[in-house]
Amino acid sequence: MLQVTLNDKVALVTGATRGIGLSIARCLAKSGAKVACIGTNAQRLEESVAQINAQGGCAKAYVCNVADEEQIDAMSKSVLADFGRVDILVNNAGITRDMLMRRIPTKDWDDVFAINTRGTFLVTRAFVETMRKNKWGRIINLASVSALFGNPGQANYSASKAAIIAFTRTIAKELGNRNITANAIAPGFIETDMTAVLKDVQKQVMIDRTPLGRMGQPEDIANAVLFFASDDASFITGQTLVVDGGLID
Ligand code: NAI
Repeated sequence: MLQVTLNDKVALVTGATRGIGLSIARCLAKSGAKVACIGTNAQRLEESVAQINAQGGCAKAYVCNVADEEQIDAMSKSVLADFGRVDILVNNAGITRDMLMRRIPTKDWDDVFAINTRGTFLVTRAFVETMRKNKWGRIINLASVSALFGNPGQANYSASKAAIIAFTRTIAKELGNRNITANAIAPGFIETDMTAVLKDVQKQVMIDRTPLGRMGQPEDIANAVLFFASDDASFITGQTLVVDGGLID
């Protein structure tokens, strides 16, 4: 794990019950940050938080659907009442509804945008004032390499993640004068529940196309998040870091 000290920082991670989000929450906590963990499954969220705290971290669970504005409002009030502020925001929650474009039901298009894109906007808006007040902030958004190259079967997902990249570049310009950076990470093919649903043959095709010859691990992405959260990344903003083992050109 990247060695970063975040002792006096408060972080918030959406989608922290499993996969990349859980790994990010664990790494931020190990680096000393207090971590607010957001998810929809109360039991899994409590298990994740218990796991982080058992390893010496300081994490707290908040059940919240990032597609629901009222729930975000209530969650942000609770987090700010408990921790006083949020310094590092990681918009990680995301879903796929893969299908060839001509067959995508309108609801699947809307659901993907509601969670991936609108959720990222709503959660960011809910916490940006506390960062502005403190004149320090790190916003780190999970995009995808699918946003950067056309991935057949992911028109909805790719478009939702491309919007996150544009959102990130824009808010970086809006918030720079308050010492708040905003960056995106575009993971390649990472071994989580999200990719576990793919057939073995599909996985092998992706691995064969990846020059480093393996699927990425959630920790590969968590390390990139730690870097953006650290003081060492204080002059980097509006960027998208591809972490994909060389998958895309
Ligand atoms: P995952 O499916 O294993 O975990 C997603 C997390 O988001 C879960 O904790 C889930 O409960 C949470 N979530 C889903 N809908 C939510 C909602 N409405 N409100 C709150 N939380 C919600 O996915 P994984 O693989 O860990 O992905 C994490 C992020 O990384 C996602 O944004 C995904 O799009 C992105 N990503 C993943 C890649 C991969 O290969 N696994 C590749 C590129 C990007």
